Amino acid sequence: NQIKLFCPATIANVSCGFDVLGLCLESVGDEMLFEKSAEKGIRIQEIIGADLPLEVEQNVAGVAALSLYEELDPDFGVDITIYKNIKAGSGIGSSAASAAGAVFGVNALCNYPLSNKELIYYAMQGEALASGAPHADNVAPALLGGFAFIRSYDPLDIISIPTPSELYATVIHPQIELKTKDARSVVKQNISLKKAIVQCGNLGGLICGLYNSDYDLIGRSLHDEFVEPIRSLLIPNFDELQLAAIEHGALGSGISGAGPSVFALCEGRKVAEVVAKAMKEVVRGADYESEIHVSPI
Ligand code: HSE
Repeated sequence: NQIKLFCPATIANVSCGFDVLGLCLESVGDEMLFEKSAEKGIRIQEIIGADLPLEVEQNVAGVAALSLYEELDPDFGVDITIYKNIKAGSGIGSSAASAAGAVFGVNALCNYPLSNKELIYYAMQGEALASGAPHADNVAPALLGGFAFIRSYDPLDIISIPTPSELYATVIHPQIELKTKDARSVVKQNISLKKAIVQCGNLGGLICGLYNSDYDLIGRSLHDEFVEPIRSLLIPNFDELQLAAIEHGALGSGISGAGPSVFALCEGRKVAEVVAKAMKEVVRGADYESEIHVSPI
């Protein structure tokens, strides 16, 4: 009659896959508790660790849970308690963790009528509230684990991509607030054919690299022509962080989701730890706090 979940953080875009690629961080995330109740409906009982609205329609988890609840129409209600660890506006899928957790929890209490893949659509409804666009590149990896690739939004067509066993992510979160909505508003609506060709090459290369555990190819492919040139201007010390990561052995580095977090992919935990130290060093003495994570994918 109750279930407690780990709701993972995620890195969307992974440089060359704007809105179409994301990965799941195995060891960073929130927790959520779901309890059946006799009174029908969805209720958010408490949110620990963040100052977020409890009203269901104004809460990402609430909106996502409600969209699935209305579809399944169970004869019981669901009470939700959220333990937030991932800071809102951090760029590692805080809203997605809540949205994905919400639909997983409701589905679990209903005895799993839908597959995790089918849940993605409902989680996207919550994500739309947070970012103004129902993008799936955080909720899909949060629900499926590993790397998830969105081949198409209409119709929704999502593919799980294998993760090489030694692939680790280092993520640094400079704690300045950057809302996804705002970070989306600066993205250019038109891209030159030349840039699109480079991006297609890199995205294809990254996917091939993941399938073949070709770490070198993964590294060569981690570049972004579309959003990084503009969004990076909003992130303090971005160039230095990226350079420090590469110089200390990362395969590649870029903006995590809409930022301000910056990620690096590394072969092996040891390298990922060294990269974490180097990135931390860059922001030492900065006038903002920062938090760093090293996680398998
Ligand atoms: N693909 C989305 C964006 C991810 O970059 O706006 C947001 O986390």
